[in-house]
Amino acid sequence: MTSSPLPHRIGYGEDAHRLAEGRSLVLGGVAIPHAGRGAVAHSDGDAVLHAVADALLSGLALGDIGQYYPDTAPENAGLDSRVILMRCLELVRKRGYAPVNLALVVTLDRPKLGPLRADIARSLAELLGLRETEVGVSFKTSEGLAPDHVQVRVTVLLARMGA
Ligand code: C5P
Ligand code: MG
Repeated sequence: MTSSPLPHRIGYGEDAHRLAEGRSLVLGGVAIPHAGRGAVAHSDGDAVLHAVADALLSGLALGDIGQYYPDTAPENAGLDSRVILMRCLELVRKRGYAPVNLALVVTLDRPKLGPLRADIARSLAELLGLRETEVGVSFKTSEGLAPDHVQVRVTVLLARMGA
């Protein structure tokens, strides 16, 4: 029996990075001013873009970004996470799917990200070919449970193109 491709598929992704002084904090392609600290990472440490990229891959059971961009590979040092995301988006599109909406939660104790909500939504929408209203961006503190980390969780809905 042949199974026809699903019209919709859900993807889920997570990422976390430790924060340290002397690094810049970038989330969803947006530089966060006055953060004081940034992500410790092999690439540029954009935890939002990493989680979104993993969500795209997971929706089609394509594994995770570590398989495509190992953090042990010297050529991935300082890599612009937008490159990672665009490669994952291409893999999704090649299989006939496209993202239709995305929901994102960033857990970070400080700084306050609320004033940058629209900037982050716009940046992600541009990268993914979506409208700003199709990108939900939520922020949470960890209530002091993880003051030295940024944590991101993402769900994405993929729809089969032309379905
Ligand atoms: O996590 P908590 O419920 O305490 O968050 C309260 C509010 O603070 C929420 O409206 C959230 O959007 C905002 N917030 C923020 N920047 C953060 C963490 C939370 O703007 N880094
Ligand atoms: Mg990461």
